[in-house]
Amino acid sequence: KKVAILISGGGSNMVTLVDSMTGNHPARPCLVLSNNADAGGLTKAADRGIATAVVDHRPFGKDREAFEAELVKPILASGADIVCLAGFMRVLTAGFVSQFEGRMLNIHPSLLPKYKGLHTHARALEAGDARHGCTVHEVTPLLDDGPVLGQAEVPVLPGDTPDVLAARVLEQEHRLYPAVLERYAAGDRTPVLLA
Ligand code: GRF
Repeated sequence: KKVAILISGGGSNMVTLVDSMTGNHPARPCLVLSNNADAGGLTKAADRGIATAVVDHRPFGKDREAFEAELVKPILASGADIVCLAGFMRVLTAGFVSQFEGRMLNIHPSLLPKYKGLHTHARALEAGDARHGCTVHEVTPLLDDGPVLGQAEVPVLPGDTPDVLAARVLEQEHRLYPAVLERYAAGDRTPVLLA
């Protein structure tokens, strides 16, 4: 299976996914694509010999469809079977998502269905939650809403700030996403639940 990974920033999740696809893993990375030419992950991908591309969303203003019509081109050209969103910070329209129904994954830093959208760590702290974490799900037209493919939990500790909690969650993202991708690429959609 060929995997295209979409990023917007540092790409730490992309790096762990790429580094996990070795040996008898059923998938290999074929493209790292960003909406941000300055994304640090682009260099990390190039250092690993992976094809990269940039489609900057800014020239398209509010015309999401026009941006997505460009964004889809390198993905199709790469021959990707699976698309992984990994720290990709643009909302995708139903039209774009429908082209990848059943073969697009996303990682979200909360225990979905709690805290869809942004600022998930601050919201968990605000709510006084004792547990928090991250979720890998299949991407469907509704934001942060598709079938859950994996979750990993972390404790919320006294004195946690959003940044401290985010770092604890990110560590689990790096465990969860590779575990889910390996199972998913083998055609197994049984959820991965990491304690
Ligand atoms: C992080 O906040 C992570 O929780 C979320 O995307 C952001 C950047 O991740 N998934 P990455 O380092 O670019 O993978």
